[in-house]
Amino acid sequence: MQLDDLYRRVIMDHYKNPRNRGKLADESVTINLNNPTCGDRISLQLQVVDGKVTDARYEGEGCSISMSSASMMTEAIKGKTFEEALSMADKFSSLMKGEPVEFEELEDIEALSGVNKFPARIKCATLAWNALRKGIEHRHD
Ligand code: FES
Ligand code: FES
Repeated sequence: MQLDDLYRRVIMDHYKNPRNRGKLADESVTINLNNPTCGDRISLQLQVVDGKVTDARYEGEGCSISMSSASMMTEAIKGKTFEEALSMADKFSSLMKGEPVEFEELEDIEALSGVNKFPARIKCATLAWNALRKGIEHRHD
């Protein structure tokens, strides 16, 4: 399958069948973040137990790329320590720079490398990961 097809298929799958969309009953951390370019927003909730992200949910209004990326991100980080989640966020940044990166946690994420062809879209794809970073860095305060 061409990367372009994979890219579209994966994004539409996560956009139409979002994983982890909604609210946590017992949230530990809530991060609200806007994409300044378009004003779209995400609200990310992380449930944290002993330095691990035990659950994650998101809500928001945004384009298919930002929302599907949030779906993938929340799926991938569940059960991870802060360090593991941050290193995944770093890997995602590398992916956005066009570097070859493997996400053994969730291969779907690799399909987002397709946004490289549309530089403005990188901000869309990165919104959820930036919210994650903000949430974890805040916890370290
Ligand atoms: Fe412009 Fe997403 S911010 S396409
Ligand atoms: Fe706003 Fe993509 S156009 S997040």
